[in-house]
Amino acid sequence: MLQERIRSELNQAPMNPPTNKKMEYEMSSLLNSSAVKRTLSACLALPFIVLAGNAAADGDGVWKGGENVYAKVCGHCHEKQVGPQITGRQLPPQYITAIVRNGFRAMPAFPASFIDDNSLQQVAEYISKTPASAAKP
Ligand code: HEC
Repeated sequence: MLQERIRSELNQAPMNPPTNKKMEYEMSSLLNSSAVKRTLSACLALPFIVLAGNAAADGDGVWKGGENVYAKVCGHCHEKQVGPQITGRQLPPQYITAIVRNGFRAMPAFPASFIDDNSLQQVAEYISKTPASAAKP
């Protein structure tokens, strides 16, 4: 399955700092997939998000609750039509946390070093409980 292969590539990438050979292999074997092109363009947004994350954390590495994580991380894509709308849909928190940790197709994975378990749980519950009327198109 293409999806599973890409998911496992995404999961392994942060663990093993890529050598040039590995990069070449991944590029040549995956570049002709449009899902991967979307993944690569999503990854280009990451340095920007990391900067926003540092600002949110006020230098102490702690997120200020679920709404803060959503605004500073998820919203960069999910409020800007890069990713699908996830608020106001009563998505189960377990589904949200699984996708954030593992990545899903065009969405990159976020490790515990970036969003700790507690903050991830809070943002999942925040998103899950947003009312449909507050959802933006
Ligand atoms: C770099 C952009 C980006 C960021 C940041 C991002 N996402 Fe995503 N997300 C995506 C994209 C793109 C998809 C659609 C993936 C696909 O279907 O190919 C997605 C899909 C999802 C889905 C599945 C939606 C559905 O319709 O089932 C969930 C849930 C989700 N993201 C949650 C989050 C949460 C929570 C955060 C913040 C911690 C977050 N995302 C941050 C880009 C992003």
